[in-house]
Amino acid sequence: MFPPLRVGLSATLPPPNILVIFGATGDLTARKLLPALFDLFCARKLPAQFCIVGFARREKSDDEFRADARASAQRFARAKPDDARARWDEFAQRIFYHTGSFDSFDAYTRLAERLRELDTTYGTQGNRLFYLATAPEHYALIAERLGAAHLAPPGGPWERLIVEKPFGNDLASAHALNRQLLAIFDESQIYRIDHYLGKETVQNIFAFRFANTILEPLWNRNYVDHVQITAAESIGIENRGEYYDKAGALRDMVQSHLLQLVALTAMEPPVSFDATAVRDEKIKVLRAICPLCDRDVDDVVVRGQYDAYRTEPRVAPDSNTETFVALKLMIENWRWAGVPFYVRTGKRLAKRATEIQIHFKPVPHPLFAHDVGNGITPNVIALRIQPDEGIYWEFAAKRPGQAIQLSNVRMDFCYADSFGAAPGDAYETLLLDAMRGDATLFNRNDEVEVAWSLVMPILERWAQLPPPRFPNYAAGTWGPITADELLARDGRAWRAP
Ligand code: BG6
Repeated sequence: MFPPLRVGLSATLPPPNILVIFGATGDLTARKLLPALFDLFCARKLPAQFCIVGFARREKSDDEFRADARASAQRFARAKPDDARARWDEFAQRIFYHTGSFDSFDAYTRLAERLRELDTTYGTQGNRLFYLATAPEHYALIAERLGAAHLAPPGGPWERLIVEKPFGNDLASAHALNRQLLAIFDESQIYRIDHYLGKETVQNIFAFRFANTILEPLWNRNYVDHVQITAAESIGIENRGEYYDKAGALRDMVQSHLLQLVALTAMEPPVSFDATAVRDEKIKVLRAICPLCDRDVDDVVVRGQYDAYRTEPRVAPDSNTETFVALKLMIENWRWAGVPFYVRTGKRLAKRATEIQIHFKPVPHPLFAHDVGNGITPNVIALRIQPDEGIYWEFAAKRPGQAIQLSNVRMDFCYADSFGAAPGDAYETLLLDAMRGDATLFNRNDEVEVAWSLVMPILERWAQLPPPRFPNYAAGTWGPITADELLARDGRAWRAP
C-alpha cells in the first residue's frame, strides 16, 4: 500500500507550546496568522496548552491586542468571533502582548520571564515557536537577541524559528542571513516560509503525481511537449508600494513561489515524505535548471509594468520595477531535457488564477482528417492551484452523430464538489507543521540559495540594460505583447487558465 502522505504527523495534535509573533501589529499577523490560529482553535487542532504572545514596538495592552485580534478574525477567519463568542472568549484568554524594541536586550529578558510565567499557568512546557513577521531587515537582529536571551536551555524543550518571506533580496543577502541564523539556530530549528507550499492544491501535486500509476509513464520528455505555469493576480500592489517597488515580480514571486511550483512539477519521486527526502529531490530539479547567460536573459525573459503602477502610493513616479515576468526555463536532466517550462506571473492581469498546465505532444499519426479534427489540440492536464481548486484533463472525443467529428472535452475534479469544502488556508497547515516539527513544507537553506542563484543573472543583466519602456501593458490584460511573442517564437501560445 502507498504510505500515507506526510507519515501520520498530520493527524496528531501538536505538543504544548507558546507562539511568539514578532511584528504582531503588522499586516501579516492581522490578515493571516491570527485568523489562521482562530480557525485552528475552532477546529480543535491546537493543543489545550497553548498561548500566543504578540511582540512589537507599539505600546499596547493585552486587551487592546485581543480587540485587534478579534477584528482581524472577524474579517479574515472562516470562523467568526461574532458567531462563536464562547470559542472566541476561550481563545482570547490565550493571547498576550509584549511591548519591546527589537534591539533591546531588556525586552528579551522580560519576554523570557513572561514566557516562564505562562509556562506555569498554561502548561506550555517551555516549548517556543518564534515567528518573524517583521520587516526582513530585523530578522537577523531578533534571532541574535533570542540567542543571547537563552530562552530555551539546550537539551530541554524545543525552540523553533519561522522566517517569513522574503528571505534576502539577492543571493548575497540570503546567504548572509542564512549564516546569521545558523550561527544561533540549527538548520532543523529554522522554518523558512513559502506559503505556496502550505496550499492544499500544491501539496496535492505530490498526491496526484506519486499516488496514481497512470501518470508516471507519461510525465516526461517522451510525452510532454511543454509545461506552462501561470500565477496571475487581478489585484495590484495594494498598500505595499514601499516593499514592492524595491522587490518587483521576479523577486516577489518567481524566486520563491514559482520556482517551488516548477520543482514540485518536475521532481523525481522522493523515497519517503520526510523533509530531507522531499527537499533533496526538489533541490535536484533547481540545480538542473539551465543557468541563464546575458543573451538568454534578453531572449527568454520578458518583463512588464502595468499602466497605472507609477501612480500607486509609495511607488517612484519613474519606477522601472517590473510587475510582470514571463520566462522560459530548461531543465537539463534525463526526464525533462528539451521540454520548455514557461512561467509567468503578474499583477493586475485579466483574472486571478494560478495554474500548472502539462501540454502533451500531439498524436504521432493524424488518423482523423484535418477538417474532422479541426480545432482539436493535444491533451492538457491542468492543476488549478487557485481559485476553483481542482484538476482537469482535456482530451478529444467524438461528437454524437453519424459523422466522425471531434471536439475537445474536459474531465474535471473540483475540491469543493468532491470533498464538500474548499481547502483551508495555507498558514493553518504551516503553523501546525512547525509546531509538530515537520519541515517538509518549508524551504531549506540550500534551496533558498539555489533559487536566488537562478534569478541573479536576470537581475544582473537588467541592471546593465537601459531602462525598459514601461509601462507596457494595460491593467486587466494578460501582460505585455512580448510575453506572447516569447511562446510564438517556439510555435506555441499561452493558454489562459
Ligand atoms: C506573496 C507576494 O508572497 O504572495 C504577493 O508577496 C502576492 O505579492 C502573494 O500577492 C500571492 O499569494 P496568493 O496566495 O494570493 O497567491
